Amino acid sequence: METTFLSSGKSTSGEISTGEDFHKPVLLSETIDWVKSKGEGFYLDGTVGGGGHSKLLLDTCKGCRVIAVDRDPQALSIAKTTLESYGDRVIFVHARFDQALDQFSLQGPLSGAFLDLGVSSRQLDDDERGFTFRKNVNLDMRMDCANSDHPTAAQILNEAPEEKLENIFRDYGEEPRARKLAHGIVSRRQKNPFLTSDDLVAILYKTFKRTPKTQEKARIFQALRICINDELGCLSRGLKRIRMDLDSGASFAVITYHSLEDRIVKHSFREWSQSCICPPKIPICSCRGEPLGHVPLVRGVKPSDDEIQENSRARSARLRIWRKA
Ligand SMILES: C[S@@+](CC[C@H](N)C(=O)[O-])C[C@H]1O[C@@H](n2cnc3c(N)ncnc32)[C@H](O)[C@@H]1O
Repeated sequence: METTFLSSGKSTSGEISTGEDFHKPVLLSETIDWVKSKGEGFYLDGTVGGGGHSKLLLDTCKGCRVIAVDRDPQALSIAKTTLESYGDRVIFVHARFDQALDQFSLQGPLSGAFLDLGVSSRQLDDDERGFTFRKNVNLDMRMDCANSDHPTAAQILNEAPEEKLENIFRDYGEEPRARKLAHGIVSRRQKNPFLTSDDLVAILYKTFKRTPKTQEKARIFQALRICINDELGCLSRGLKRIRMDLDSGASFAVITYHSLEDRIVKHSFREWSQSCICPPKIPICSCRGEPLGHVPLVRGVKPSDDEIQENSRARSARLRIWRKA
């Protein structure tokens, strides 16, 4: 699995950010060029973050309006500042993208939709949010930081059964020493509960019997983040839910940052583009019998070398497009 990790930045907690210093949008013009092909109408930005992608859409497609969704209330309030000048062309919704479209009634189908998955640079760089393995950072990692029902990373490490921890590190982090790591966590927490990033890094050190590499730390921290925020579940449910509201000819663009996400998007788009999805042994087709749309670019779009040089976050990105019939 490819892992996203940024060159470590200092905490930006408490700073006032504009959309631009919040996050540098990845595959910006490529995404919006594909998405806006239908012209005017409502578009869903399911992961508005700093609002970079929405801003370009609003600037280059005058008749369009955007439903700007984010599950992180802090991100949404920054998007509101970035996109303030567009007035009622933007509707802000604090929700997960798999639930957002059920929160209000749309006046018509969507002309397009896009998702730019994962977390933003600002979330990663803000030590208060606990997404990073930098020193002495609280183990939080909840995207929806206002929702106290969601367990934090510390709670998972201190309370989850050993088997669950093993599954998290194996399934989401592709960590070959997942069992040993989970065992080490459970043995340690009885005496010393997990509080900060240093505690988790110390267990990695003990498990690997050496200093963990940056990429290894990134994989383990990312695995916890994926679990805590149910990122893959949201993606699977969200893709289907958003597809239902797309207009004929509308494009759906998704930018992924690691292979587990990309696999879900690739398989969904491929399956929706097949004429028959009956199991091979069924003699007569009993499914929908026709494709719901098509994939215009089989391999998707990867960032150029120049973009990767300018923005290390782009390194693992891939854009996939699906167009509804
Ligand atoms: C990579 S950033 C998006 C950056 C944005 N495209 C821009 O131009 O600034 C991802 C954002 O999606 C949000 N997010 C991630 N998963 C989400 C979900 N399931 N539902 C809603 N928002 C989500 C995160 O909180 C974060 O703000």
